[in-house]
Amino acid sequence: MSEKIKVVICSGTACYVMGASDILLLEEELPAALRDRVEIEGATCLGFCKDPKSGKAPFVSIGGEVMAGATLPKVMARIRELANA
Ligand code: FES
Repeated sequence: MSEKIKVVICSGTACYVMGASDILLLEEELPAALRDRVEIEGATCLGFCKDPKSGKAPFVSIGGEVMAGATLPKVMARIRELANA
């Protein structure tokens, strides 16, 4: 059994207003086959929105990598990639 992919969804203010609320639907949207491969956590500000070099909110950390400008489909695609790796 491989390790779970940890997904941390920032729901601090900057991320929330930029669409993190949609990404929080991830848990419901994940196909059953992926559900037990993923561990989802919410977080208050991860700090990336404070650094212009990080890119745009919302930020989601997936398996330790930060995704800027995250959307639900992008997060889902990345989880699929990691789950198949
Ligand atoms: S509110 Fe998300 S990184 Fe700051």
